[in-house]
Amino acid sequence: MEKLVAKVSQRIKILNNELQEIYQEHSDDIVGEITLKNLLGGMRGMTSLVCNTSFVDPYKGLFISGYEIPDFQDKTPEEIFFLLVTGTFPDPSELDELNTELAQRATIPEFVWSMLRSLPKNIHPMTMFSMGILAMEGESVFKKKFEEGVNKDEYWLYTLEDSLNLIAKLPVLAAGIYRLLFMNGDIIDSTQDLNLTDNFTFRLGFNRHNPSFADLNRLYLVLHCDHEGGNVSAFTSRIVNSALSNIYYATSAGLNGLAGPLHGLANQECLHFITEIHDALGNKPSIDAVRNFVMATLDAGKIIPGYGHAVLRVTDPRFSAFMKFGDQYCSESPYLQTVKKLYEIVPPILKDYKDGKISNPWPNVDAISGSLLYHYGMTHYEFYTVMFGISRTLGFCAQNIIARGMQQPIIRPKSVTNTWLKTYFESRTNEGNRTKKAVP
Ligand SMILES: CC(C)(COP(=O)(O)OP(=O)(O)OC[C@H]1O[C@@H](n2cnc3c(N)ncnc32)[C@H](O)[C@@H]1OP(=O)(O)O)[C@@H](O)C(=O)NCCC(=O)NCCS
Repeated sequence: MEKLVAKVSQRIKILNNELQEIYQEHSDDIVGEITLKNLLGGMRGMTSLVCNTSFVDPYKGLFISGYEIPDFQDKTPEEIFFLLVTGTFPDPSELDELNTELAQRATIPEFVWSMLRSLPKNIHPMTMFSMGILAMEGESVFKKKFEEGVNKDEYWLYTLEDSLNLIAKLPVLAAGIYRLLFMNGDIIDSTQDLNLTDNFTFRLGFNRHNPSFADLNRLYLVLHCDHEGGNVSAFTSRIVNSALSNIYYATSAGLNGLAGPLHGLANQECLHFITEIHDALGNKPSIDAVRNFVMATLDAGKIIPGYGHAVLRVTDPRFSAFMKFGDQYCSESPYLQTVKKLYEIVPPILKDYKDGKISNPWPNVDAISGSLLYHYGMTHYEFYTVMFGISRTLGFCAQNIIARGMQQPIIRPKSVTNTWLKTYFESRTNEGNRTKKAVP
């Protein structure tokens, strides 16, 4: 993997030089202020991380090294990983090298299958996915090299080595979990060197000769790849890796965050929501009936899955990319029709709901992705977050490779108690300083 190593090494040097220059001039300058509202609001709006793999613009969505979704939605997951970690798309020889490397690393050790087979059938596939990754932790090259006392300048290299091993294995692990839980339990093997998408599609073992299903899998693995550094799963993965826990630990931890219904599990919740609508109202529900269903959901104190976002303030461009696919290949799907009805109905309702308190009434990626998979026969929606996880691991790995290359320190924010806050604000009041501005 000479070419990839050279490119990543060059990127790390560039990023390090840039940051050093900025630091020399501005080390004590303020980049933001923290209000009590920020502190109590899940750290929302606090600038607290540097992440160079991607950036989310509230009005334009995901950017990877200056590229927007329409610029890369036709690429492969391999090309996207290369872009995330190097900042450029691979040329044909670089892509060839990466594809070959990954194909050689795609085998899952037999003990992992044995462990997964021994688990109860009512387990969630995300639990199996995370356990499967954790079970392979003993194979970490980083861990071995660290124990041997390798120079910290090389940490990124072994993080990259581990990342390639993990990225290659995840489509195989995921497809195997699908078959263990939802099919007859036999694991499909392949003697061919397949790319990540084809490996996944082939080993799922259904609809494998349908080119648009393979293309949907490719698109799915591309669109979920990264969403800057502060989302629950990426941040978790970064924190864990900042303690020099290897990429297996960091990925498993990140995926456990992705498994939450306010984060990655929302795609499962969305499909469940659409299923409920169809169960209650039939396959072609009227706009009015769907509107009433949405209102009843909100009145029951529940959220509308797939709508809202912590950073975005427009329709998620990933939603639009999936919609384009749906219009092209499965516009007649009843689930997609209902997704469209929800898109028409939900934003105006959420805009006015809770006195306009909802920051973003628009759909995110999860509002549509599952309905497309369902159309192609992937009806077990508990699995959707696992697919999200295969893709998001590209981002976890890229972020952690770069963080190790830049020798970023262990992440350790300060926490305070209610008493600390009370005393702090009292002392500011006593000083006659009634400014609402917080910590100097
Ligand atoms: C994504 C999400 C967690 C962002 O949370 P956030 O940044 O706190 O969002 P907001 O600032 O808009 O939240 C303000 C209020 O609106 C509510 N709200 C936000 N989105 C909502 C939705 N889709 N349905 C109903 N209520 C919603 C919040 O629960 C919160 O209510 P509260 O003050 O009573 O707790 C939130 O929009 C949500 O739960 N969406 C549905 C789940 C989902 O699709 N997740 C995937 C995200 S990619």
